[in-house]
Amino acid sequence: MRIRTLSFDFGENWKNYAEKSLNEEQFEQSKKHFKELFDQIHIKDRSFLDIGFGQGLALVHAYNMGAKTIGIDINPTCTEVLNFTFQRFNGAPCPFPAITGSVLEPEVVAQLNRTYQNFDIVHSWGVLHHTGNMYKSIKIAAGLVNNSGFLVLAIYNRHWSSGFWKAVKKIYVSVPAVVQKLMIYLFCAIIFVAKFLVTFKNPLNKKRGMSFYYDVIDWVGGYPYEYASVNEIKEAVEKYGFKLLKVNKPTTPTGCNEFVFRKTELIS
Ligand SMILES: C[S@@+](CC[C@H](N)C(=O)[O-])C[C@H]1O[C@@H](n2cnc3c(N)ncnc32)[C@H](O)[C@@H]1O
Repeated sequence: MRIRTLSFDFGENWKNYAEKSLNEEQFEQSKKHFKELFDQIHIKDRSFLDIGFGQGLALVHAYNMGAKTIGIDINPTCTEVLNFTFQRFNGAPCPFPAITGSVLEPEVVAQLNRTYQNFDIVHSWGVLHHTGNMYKSIKIAAGLVNNSGFLVLAIYNRHWSSGFWKAVKKIYVSVPAVVQKLMIYLFCAIIFVAKFLVTFKNPLNKKRGMSFYYDVIDWVGGYPYEYASVNEIKEAVEKYGFKLLKVNKPTTPTGCNEFVFRKTELIS
């Protein structure tokens, strides 16, 4: 008997995005965003772990900037998508390891530690709130960072509507595919109008090289889903000996806050 798990298939959505949407312009836009996020961090020759690499763009940019890269993602399709993205934009097969597994699995963490014995940079953009145990995965990610290393996270912001969105996502992963499709059409319209009213900008113009349509699928379907305020994440990470260097707030209130932390003290 096949057991149905209540979680979203990110891999399938990233595959569709990479094959049907991602173009040169989006690739350049995502590179620009990546470089801005890392403007205070020297990447060349540093070990760089991407937890939940998804479509693989951050890994491709880090590799091209000279980092010693490795990625993990729980969804096996993401490795396929990373290989596709790397080959397409670098014109060669992806040369670095990508592990299929969860950051919450001790064996996966042990495998990562065997590779580099902790990392100069651990990056996890829009991931740890989808693991089903955000605070445990923050602790694990923080534990993978070298002394004086960096932890770069993006986590969904806490907002009065967060509970509503959690319910929407839970419904999405519970209903048949045809109902999911209808939900996506409905929310494309709702989110388009809401984003325009909040930002006064064209919602089709995305940041980070993303696509409006595939982002709506990711947002409506992305379950498990947790969220936290800036202060909640600051406290959760600083207790492991880190100092917050930078926060970038999202353009919409339920979007991701981006955090750059540096490990400053040893915590036993
Ligand atoms: C919203 S996507 C973010 C992808 C990418 N980091 C980005 O910046 O666009 C979330 C990713 O986290 C992965 N993921 C979810 N839970 C995970 C876990 N427990 N361990 C590793 N990866 C996980 C999903 O498969 C998915 O590819």
